[in-house]
Amino acid sequence: MIAPSILNADNMHLSRDIKAAIESGIDRFHIDIMDGYFVPNLSYGPELVKDFKRSFPLTEAEIHLMSNNLKITLPLFVEAGCDLLEFHYEATDNPSYWLKYLKDHNVRRGMAINPSTPVQKVRPFLKDLDQVLLMTVKPGFGGQKFEEKSVERLVELKNMIKAENLNLPIEVDGGIDRETLKISRDAGATIFVVGSYIFKNGSIEDQVMKLKKEDK
Ligand code: DX5
Ligand code: ZN
Repeated sequence: MIAPSILNADNMHLSRDIKAAIESGIDRFHIDIMDGYFVPNLSYGPELVKDFKRSFPLTEAEIHLMSNNLKITLPLFVEAGCDLLEFHYEATDNPSYWLKYLKDHNVRRGMAINPSTPVQKVRPFLKDLDQVLLMTVKPGFGGQKFEEKSVERLVELKNMIKAENLNLPIEVDGGIDRETLKISRDAGATIFVVGSYIFKNGSIEDQVMKLKKEDK
């Protein structure tokens, strides 16, 4: 599955860019939320998510919450109507509390881990997740280069999920293009977040089609 990250879309033409991706068969978008503290950048707020769901009710909104002020930020995006929410392992001392919160609010659950966090850290939470987001760049900005060491981390995560007898999809985010999609797919990823490659390379339709060919 390809989940375009709108971070690198044209903010003055967001709905145009989103429509172009939907017409190419996309049914989930990855919306990057940055708080200026957990990561040194800012992006969108809950109003964008509300507007997104009002305009595209059949399309899934996946929130990648790059914030460690979860008490304030997380409920805002739940109330805004997101379908999935992934918070960072590194952002809270109490992941179980937030996993239960999301479950109680009928939001599908993801946990994100930074490239510097040992993969083993998410093991205790796997059984309560709908997907794991393995960051393939340090979060904060689009347009960065895929970190090669992600490949062995993906294999480790895949084996860990298997050892737990779970069937949990692994998502990758950061520097994904045709080449790194193939590499991470072969290492076990099944959901691919793609920003610049889709939105900063001419025709959105063409870019999505190229990626779909590799994602089988
Ligand atoms: C980085 C974000 C990513 C990013 C992806 O902090 O989580 O979703 O926008 O963009 P590209 O594909 O350009 O790396
Ligand atoms: Zn992201």
